[in-house]
Amino acid sequence: MNKVIYIINGPNLNLLGQRQPELYGHETLRDVETKCRSVCADGFDVHLVQSNREGQIVDWIHEARQRACGIVINPAALTHTSVAILDALNTFEGPVIEVHISNVHKRESFRHHSFVSLRAEAVVAGLGLDGYEAAVRRICALVDRRE
Ligand code: DQA
Repeated sequence: MNKVIYIINGPNLNLLGQRQPELYGHETLRDVETKCRSVCADGFDVHLVQSNREGQIVDWIHEARQRACGIVINPAALTHTSVAILDALNTFEGPVIEVHISNVHKRESFRHHSFVSLRAEAVVAGLGLDGYEAAVRRICALVDRRE
């Protein structure tokens, strides 16, 4: 059976492709899923989800405890506010990588702090959608190494 990597996306990322394309580009979350699936190592697959609700994201992280070997997460605005997402990630045993499409450090100062970074093995910011692919490749390598 394939090892599944959860790719969890937070608020407003359902509008990827339409929302501020100068910052976030023209591609959609479906494009992200296709690209990530194509870079998975043999024996891995991805499961991409998005919600505008913090509690739903916490629930998916709990679900990942049983079903996923790793998590790639772009918590969007919840990155900067959510202790609940950090606490949920701290219950997950596999590798976690935080992704931001834009370079948050070049933007407003409230985007410079991330609760999720306290848990993440790595943080990718400013690579556009390529950041998701880099994160998936790294999770595959980390999981293979742990086995
Ligand atoms: C984001 C950066 C966040 O600050 C912002 O709230 C987002 C997207 C990014 O991918 O660059 O919604 O996480």
